[in-house]
Amino acid sequence: ADGPLADRYGRVARDLRVSLTDKCNLRCTYCMPAEGLPWLAGPQLLTDDEIVRLVGVAVRRLGITEVRFTGGEPLIRPGLPGIVAAVAALSPRPRISLTTNGIGLARLAPALRAAGLDRVNVSLDTLDRDRFAALTRRDRHDDVLAGLAGAASAGLTPVKINAVLMRGVNDDEAPELLRFALAHGYELRFIEQMPLDAQHGWDRSTMVTADEILAALRAEFALRADPTERGAAPAETWLVDGGPARVGVIGSVTRPFCGDCDRTRLTADGQVRNCLFATDESDLRAALRAGADDEELARRWRAAMWGKRAGHGIDDPTFLQPVRPMSAIGG
Ligand code: GTP
Ligand code: 5AD
Ligand code: SF4
Repeated sequence: ADGPLADRYGRVARDLRVSLTDKCNLRCTYCMPAEGLPWLAGPQLLTDDEIVRLVGVAVRRLGITEVRFTGGEPLIRPGLPGIVAAVAALSPRPRISLTTNGIGLARLAPALRAAGLDRVNVSLDTLDRDRFAALTRRDRHDDVLAGLAGAASAGLTPVKINAVLMRGVNDDEAPELLRFALAHGYELRFIEQMPLDAQHGWDRSTMVTADEILAALRAEFALRADPTERGAAPAETWLVDGGPARVGVIGSVTRPFCGDCDRTRLTADGQVRNCLFATDESDLRAALRAGADDEELARRWRAAMWGKRAGHGIDDPTFLQPVRPMSAIGG
């Protein structure tokens, strides 16, 4: 039988996040060790056709209306424009977005736009070139700035910026980042760091909280609660100096939004994750390669979502970080 991706708490997933690769061309200190990680092997990865098949099942049979491509770094997947085009050709056509570190986006933005990509979110944690190089272990600040500009001129709008603030690293930059975003018409969101790093180095005491971020911004800007409906968005938003410009804070840890979650995830190796923090996964790749039809894939996906937990549980004494790190889930 057809039906949406519901769970036992009454939530329905409409938003699919697809990780296209676990690899990345940066090495953000809060994400990966300098030497990288043991990457998924080629045969483990879904092919472009397999990805499109599974997204098709999600869109046509499971009520998914939003598809976001993530990584690792999704722009390093050669087939990305073709995947976007195939997903844009689905009926009903889902909205399509991308979360990227921005490297290569200046070059790829027009083709991605033409393929049907609607918008992008670009990660940028600092405006200082040396800091960027230290934080990401790569000297690619200029590429990211060019990527932002290229996305905007290609019409991949609204262009959003994701910034993770870390104490003693870049936590003095909140107002400056916002001035930059306002000047260029980008929508900035600050993100509380979550315990998802491969090194298991997350520490609540070094996490810069939503309250701290807001206090830093309020020293220089007037913030007023955004009256637009938040829905299931992770970002809580404020109008800056009367609007229409906005700034967001994704307070996953201190202001959790799990109760309204509308997400389901597919990893680059074809596993359904019902939560960013899920401890188990459902192997759609095995089913698909064993010849399952769309009906069977849809059934398995629904079963995987039914088991979704009420929340991430970061505050529980028994909390365990998922084995799969952020870079292999896609955020
Ligand atoms: P928009 O639709 O543009 O608002 O996208 P988004 O903010 O949902 O996605 P993006 O990929 O830009 O992610 C921004 C931050 O939100 C990242 O740190 C993600 O890990 C985090 N995030 C995305 N989805 C979830 C979620 O379901 N739960 C939690 N806790 N964090 C999430
Ligand atoms: N907690 C929160 N956000 C993170 N990101 C990467 N690691 C973490 C983490 N541990 C961010 C990236 C990117 C987005 C997809 O997730 O900076 O903007
Ligand atoms: Fe790459 Fe994103 Fe991890 Fe940075 S946070 S290393 S950009 S996957």
